[in-house]
This record gives sequence, C-alpha cells and structure tokens, in this order.
Amino acid sequence: MRKILVTGAAGFIGFHLSRRLLAEGYLVIGLDNMNDYYDVRLKEARLSQLTPFPKFRFVRQGLEEREKLHQLFAEENFEVVVNLAAQAGVRYSITNPYAYIDSNIVGFINILEGCRHNKVRHLVYASSSSVYGANTQMPFSVHHNVDHPVSLYAATKKANELMAHTYSSLYGLPTTGLRFFTVYGPWGRPDMALFLFTKAILEGRPIDVFNHGQMKRDFTFIGDIVEGLVRVIDKIPKGSPAWSGGNPDPGTSYASFRIFNIGNNNPVELLHFIEVLEGYLGKKAVKNLLPLQAGDVPTTYADVDDLIHEVGFRPATPIEMGIRHFVDWYRKFYFPNESEC
Ligand SMILES: NC(=O)c1ccc[n+]([C@@H]2O[C@H](COP(=O)([O-])OP(=O)(O)OC[C@H]3O[C@@H](n4cnc5c(N)ncnc54)[C@H](O)[C@@H]3O)[C@@H](O)[C@H]2O)c1
Repeated sequence: MRKILVTGAAGFIGFHLSRRLLAEGYLVIGLDNMNDYYDVRLKEARLSQLTPFPKFRFVRQGLEEREKLHQLFAEENFEVVVNLAAQAGVRYSITNPYAYIDSNIVGFINILEGCRHNKVRHLVYASSSSVYGANTQMPFSVHHNVDHPVSLYAATKKANELMAHTYSSLYGLPTTGLRFFTVYGPWGRPDMALFLFTKAILEGRPIDVFNHGQMKRDFTFIGDIVEGLVRVIDKIPKGSPAWSGGNPDPGTSYASFRIFNIGNNNPVELLHFIEVLEGYLGKKAVKNLLPLQAGDVPTTYADVDDLIHEVGFRPATPIEMGIRHFVDWYRKFYFPNESEC
C-alpha cells in the first residue's frame, strides 16, 4: 500500500488532494497545525470529510516542530511527500513577515531533512505563480528567470525551489515544485477573491476591486490542480543530461529537480470574473475601485507546455463551470436550509 504524507491537509488544496488520494486507495497521513489565519471551522469541516476514511490519519502539528516532524518521518516511512502546508497569501506577508519565514522556510528545511534521512522517493511541493514577480514577458514560463519577487511570500516560494534544488543535487532527492495559479473552487479559501466577493455580494456589502479592475488572473479550478498533482506524484524527475551550466535553464537541472506551472493558460479579466459570479448569485456587486495593492501583480498567465508534454495534462475548466461549482458549494455549506425557505 502506498503511504503518502500530505501537509496542509486541512487546507483548501491539501483537503481536495487527500480526498482524491484516499479514493484511489492510498494510505494518507494528513498533517496540519490548524492555525487561525482564516476561519478554523472551515478547516475542521474539511477534516471531518476525511476522518471517516479508514486509511486517513490526522496529525496536528507544525512544520517548524523539528523533533516531532523528524520522529514522524522516522516512524512512518513515507513513499511520497506532498508539501502544501505554508503561510499563504501575498497581502498578509506585508504585515506578518515572520509567519512566512517560520512556516515556509524553517518548515520547508524540516521537510527536506525528513525526506533526505528517510529515503522518500519523491517530494512534491507547492510553489506559486507569485514567483514571477516583476516579470512581464507572457505567458510566464518555468524557463524564464524569476529573480525579482515583489512580496516576501513570493520570495519564500522561490527560496523553496532553490532549497529543493540543493537537496536534489547533494542527496539525489527527487523534487518537483508546482507553481499554482490562483486556485479556486468548492471549499476554497476565505481570504481569496472569489470567496470574499461572494460573501460581500450576498450580504449587500461593496467589494474591493484592486487596480480599478484592470487585473487579469489565470484562475485555475481545484479539480485541475488535483489532477495535475496526482499525475506529478508518479512523474519522478530525472536529471536532464542536456542541461548546461553555460546556459542554465531555470526550470530543469542536471539533478533530479523539476518545476512545472499549473495554470489554466487563459487569463481572465477580473471584471468579467465578477460578471460571471453576479450571474450565478443573481445579484449585482457594488464595486469599490482601488489602486493596485503593494505586493500584487497586475496579470498572471501560465505557460503549461511542459506540463502537457511531460505530464500529459492540461488544465481546462472554464470559469463559467468552476464558479458555478463554487457558488453551489457555498450556498449548501453556509445556507443548508436555503432551498426550504
Ligand atoms: N490557493 C492558491 O491559489 C495558491 C496559489 C499558489 C500557491 N499556493 C500554495 O499552495 C499551498 C496550499 O494552499 P491553500 O490554498 O490550500 O492554502 P490553505 O491556507 O488553505 O492551506 C494551507 C494549510 O497549511 C496549514 N499550515 C500553515 N502553516 C503551517 C505550518 N507551519 N505547519 C503545519 N501546517 C501549516 C494551514 O493550517 C492550512 O490548513 C500553499 O503552499 C500555498 O502557498 C496556493
């Protein structure tokens, strides 16, 4: 039986991935510290969907707890580790920088050490589209240089990629970093636009629309993210003999290291995204138009050619379908008696 550690299992992506892996027969150890960055009740509700599976075990613990984490690794002998636990969010990193260093840097070195000492076959970890920072060449490609982050969050994700490379190079640990692009869908994050907009529109409050609505996002449906993750788990990277230090390609390596974008490859205007949402909610938004926020980038657009060619997968859920799934879930979750009223 395949045993896998999913960190951040009570989080948005970790929950969906765990559920899928359990349905496929994996033994899943889900780790999460259940912090209160957003409503803990949502994390608990996600967990309550996982705990009935006999092959699921939950460990409440922080990545920073070095001794406990190493003990877990030594006891469990994981075949694969998927590290999704992190302090997420660009805007929060402006006011809470240390939370990012603790979870994303200290936590990640603990994961790398655990993998190294316990012969984990593959470490898959979450990076982010935010690593593209000040880049403007579109679509964003893993073969572009990403040395100009514009938030500390992005810098910690880029640092994870660099740290992973050293472990692939020094110890032969196969590592794959996935740069997710604005993930949305049922059980989504309350700090992200779709959730914030839905809540505010239903409550009749104005929504904050940054950069006066002149934003484009490569919104990616959670189902596509999970499909990509599941396929990547079995795509263990091998070093590329063609890689050259004289002309170094940032997305590949001589070592067992790989980076992929997972995005919809179809950026959508924020104002159009809001229109589609208004359609499903049957209610118009009152828009509070604001300038671009510090740390944000105006456009994201994923080049997914490598994902298509090497993993055989292309995310393709249109926002019309994805937003409908989210709104259906939101209504059922927060207003279970609505249809009876
Ligand atoms: N959702 C997106 O659009 C998006 C985009 C790019 C990258 N990512 C990355 O994907 C991963 C998952 O994101 P998500 O949207 O599911 O976020 P999330 O916040 O819903 O999930 C992260 C989970 O990790 C847990 N956690 C945080 N710090 C921890 C720590 N130190 N120890 C143990 N548990 C900890 C949290 O309690 C949370 O349940 C993160 O690494 C995030 O940075 C997400």
